[in-house]
Amino acid sequence: MPANSPLDRRKFFGSAAAMSLSAAGYANVPGSNDRVRVGFLGCGGRAQAHIDLINRFARDGKAVAPVAVCDVWDGDAELGNKKGRGLYPSAKRCGISDDKKHVSKNYLTILEQKDVDVVCIATPDHWHARMAIDAMHAGKDVYMEKPMTRTIAEAIAVVDKAQKTNRVVTVGVQSMADPTWRAAHEYIAAGNIGKVMQGQTSYFRNSSVGQWRYYPLTKEMIYLAVSISNQCDYCVASHIAGARSKGMTDEQLKELIAVVGFANANNRIVAGYQVEIDERFKP
Ligand SMILES: NC(=O)c1ccc[n+]([C@@H]2O[C@H](COP(=O)([O-])OP(=O)(O)OC[C@H]3O[C@@H](n4cnc5c(N)ncnc54)[C@H](O)[C@@H]3O)[C@@H](O)[C@H]2O)c1
Repeated sequence: MPANSPLDRRKFFGSAAAMSLSAAGYANVPGSNDRVRVGFLGCGGRAQAHIDLINRFARDGKAVAPVAVCDVWDGDAELGNKKGRGLYPSAKRCGISDDKKHVSKNYLTILEQKDVDVVCIATPDHWHARMAIDAMHAGKDVYMEKPMTRTIAEAIAVVDKAQKTNRVVTVGVQSMADPTWRAAHEYIAAGNIGKVMQGQTSYFRNSSVGQWRYYPLTKEMIYLAVSISNQCDYCVASHIAGARSKGMTDEQLKELIAVVGFANANNRIVAGYQVEIDERFKP
């Protein structure tokens, strides 16, 4: 996309989590006559979904093209049901071959390329802020995976850079791009539920078995979770035995205890916390 048409690109990438737009949604982007050229920084598991989508858009004749890939790992063509992951399998999937400027282990090389309009950052979390800031500095728009950054200070630095460079930045928290959240925000900001006294949120992902629970929960593990909450030693012991007999590993047990413990601690904090009832709601 030429530099003289930033508005179209802004509309496209600013409208939602662009990488997760449906083909139908993309077709509605007004005035997207030129191709949006995408460089992928980090071509592991998550990036494959983005590559799939951009390839599909391109195949469908949409004005978008995968033009560059970066990963520090050569890759493995067998992973991900043989789609492959890493640098060279991803380059192949994007149709880019033998071009060291567009297939690189150094993301700064990709950022130097004038024919890259936007980068899709799907590296491990600690790289997100650095790469996003460098990409904006190089004049690229940015789609970055969640979590946006590791720290609040990093997030502020990314926002600051976006404002200074006037680049479009989208963070891939797809559910947060749902219009429901903005509607809820506007509803609350308009004072429709009165003075908000408390908001509650929680976060837990400190797991030794990885970011996702790849294994199915058995009903024995759910019994175990309940008995941990009830603090019944006999039940915990018997349900551990039951869950183990259905395949629960030590790692899974540790994770279950941690998750249930966190939930219980959270509930204890909240239980008993009373907000004064608004006059309007008193019987
Ligand atoms: N939006 C979502 O629903 C969603 C889903 C899964 C993962 N994610 C996020 O996406 C990111 C990637 O997750 P993943 O599961 O694909 O991990 P992954 O480990 O499969 O992929 C990360 C890739 O980045 C590469 N990499 C590491 N350092 C690099 C560097 N300096 N330069 C270039 N490449 C580098 C790795 O070699 C690897 O191939 C994480 O931040 C994760 O939280 C988001």
